Amino acid sequence: MTDVMQMIYKRRSIRKYTDQKVEKEKLELLLKAAMAAPSASNNQPWEFVVVTDAATMKQLREGLEYGNYNAPCAIIVCENPHVGKAPKSERFWVQDCSAATENILIAAAGLGLGTVWIAGYPKEKQVVTLRDILGLPEHVTPLCTIYVGYPAEEKEPRTQYDPARVHWEKY
Ligand SMILES: Cc1cc2nc3c(=O)[nH]c(=O)nc-3n(C[C@H](O)[C@H](O)[C@H](O)COP(=O)(O)O)c2cc1C
Repeated sequence: MTDVMQMIYKRRSIRKYTDQKVEKEKLELLLKAAMAAPSASNNQPWEFVVVTDAATMKQLREGLEYGNYNAPCAIIVCENPHVGKAPKSERFWVQDCSAATENILIAAAGLGLGTVWIAGYPKEKQVVTLRDILGLPEHVTPLCTIYVGYPAEEKEPRTQYDPARVHWEKY
């Protein structure tokens, strides 16, 4: 199997982490992976908030629904319509930010890190919680929070391939 397929299969949602800090160099690699993602008209409407502060992580853990996991850090993937390079393609921001998110998840697997995607937008309560904790301005929308850390649980690498979901040539 190729390396990239191994990493894609290895990426699983990790919800238990060790206390080990994540090196800043690794976090920067994750951000580089994110900003290598495709985006409509290359709009790149994304911004990222990186949280390593223990007190802020506690606030995220306690504030986010389905997000009470002990990760040492988090990357919040946000959309900012003011930074996009091709405003006419702004309507694709969810896809653009999702592509950046998936790049982070797969790159993290390759670096021996665990991650989990915690829903933000379109859950209004979650968006408000993130705005409050992180001081996001009204025009910045958090798509998701990615918890990042060294895994304290093991999950089987896998695909969920189902040939019944595939329609070759025509539906
Ligand atoms: C849009 C989206 C939102 C998600 N939200 C949450 C969440 O809020 N909390 C959580 O623990 N997992 C969340 N997940 C992770 C899924 O539960 C997980 O990807 C799915 O169960 C498949 O497991 P796997 O990631 O190990 O392959 C989310 C995943 C996606 C793509």
